[in-house]
Amino acid sequence: MPKRLASITGIQGYVPDYILTNKELEKMVDTNDEWITTRTGIKERHILKEPGKAASDMGKIMVEKLLEKTKTNPDDIELVICCTVTGDMVFPDTANTICYKTGIKNAFGFDINAACSGFLFGLTTGAKFIESGTYKKVIVVGLDVMSSIIDYTDRATCIIFGDGGGAVLLEPDESGNGIIDSVFHGDGSGREFLHMKAGGSLKPPSHETIDRKEHYVYQDGKPVFKAAIKGMVESIKEVMKRNGLTKEDINWLVPHQANIRIIDGVAEMLDFDKEKVMVNIHKYGNTTSGTLPLCLWEWEPKLKKGDKLFLTSFGGGFTWGTTYLKWAY
Ligand code: UT7
Repeated sequence: MPKRLASITGIQGYVPDYILTNKELEKMVDTNDEWITTRTGIKERHILKEPGKAASDMGKIMVEKLLEKTKTNPDDIELVICCTVTGDMVFPDTANTICYKTGIKNAFGFDINAACSGFLFGLTTGAKFIESGTYKKVIVVGLDVMSSIIDYTDRATCIIFGDGGGAVLLEPDESGNGIIDSVFHGDGSGREFLHMKAGGSLKPPSHETIDRKEHYVYQDGKPVFKAAIKGMVESIKEVMKRNGLTKEDINWLVPHQANIRIIDGVAEMLDFDKEKVMVNIHKYGNTTSGTLPLCLWEWEPKLKKGDKLFLTSFGGGFTWGTTYLKWAY
């Protein structure tokens, strides 16, 4: 009998209504639609504009719809993990706020901050609680409100990021489908290339940090770009090798959506058929912890039980890795 795995039994994505187009960005910074499209693949991104709304409000919408869609009683949820770098507050965590706002009373929750790899790290963490037999119903949320930490006068970053994400329900599966294997890596020396300088214990907020615009995303794109392709390709190869798979065995590659040239580079280096690569960066930009669940949500109608999916990510930290799962419905 196959061992007990954790499978995704439902997915719900969400993006806020407001769409920030490349044309609109042209009026805000010295950029143009042609540069953004050819250098990143992004045409538009969604932005949370409603005053007073934050990460937990997006999480609330996703989780409520997920519970409804999967006909799950909130009382049965035992754990909620929220993967984000833009939680409502530095503390407390956003997962518990989502539980409070959705009427999930019997769960404990915590956040995972692993930037663009957050959702993958959270998915595997949640899966372990199910594989071990500890829990039967776990929700993993991956979302970000990147607009809250973006300087809309900095053309190097403001054209890239957007808001949104998704939530999945994990349940036990003994039919062989579910989350099978993950290879994860980290390299703290990468933090110099992608970070927010102030607001943490290193540089608490002050007039000076505000004046120096240190509460926004800083990115030195080129080194991140190179490391992203290498990290994703190597971790995909590692997972393929460990599981005795070839590229022909894989039905879908689900890459973090940071740049279409990174996605194409990864697919080309592995000689992957582009038809099998999920891409929606043109509509949402880079939503950090939100890109992978947004892909799964959009492709959900096309996915078939038993499909082999490779989810891969690279992000701030640096953090990166690949998860292999078999779709369960
Ligand atoms: O998700 C987390 C991980 N993050 C990533 O994976 C992101 C990885 N990096 C990237 O995707 C790319 O490096 C960027 C999209 C951030 C930048 O693209 P690039 O091809 O590396 O451009 P660049 O920074 O080398 O800039 C090339 C030129 C420069 O002009 P000069 O010096 O050649 O005259 C920039 O000043 O493009 C200029 N430029 C722009 N021009 C128009 C930079 N940003 C813009 C812009 N519009 N928005």
